[in-house]
Amino acid sequence: MSAITIKNIFNKKIYTSTDNENILMSIQSNNIDWMHACGAKGRCTTCKFIIVNGHNNISTETDIEVKYRELNKLSENERLACQCTAVDDITILVPESGKMPHMKYSD
Ligand code: FES
Repeated sequence: MSAITIKNIFNKKIYTSTDNENILMSIQSNNIDWMHACGAKGRCTTCKFIIVNGHNNISTETDIEVKYRELNKLSENERLACQCTAVDDITILVPESGKMPHMKYSD
């Protein structure tokens, strides 16, 4: 079980429930609304997050993430929540592009 701290949602800390649960699933199972326009199919990048701490605690990049990185749609410190799992504790940020109007963010 890994801890995911979402820094700009008031340092909200959630935990993965299984090792193969992707980060989007972990976020959603904790009742946090998170952008996922394509329904977690790896076709949109709206689910991306910014890594603050724990770069090495996230599963290896998928081919989909590599493709978006090559297209400059994913920065070095960004990952797709629907494509990766936390293998140990991480701290992340919701990017500006992923903020939802009805949610409150701490920065
Ligand atoms: S939800 Fe579309 S790429 Fe993750």
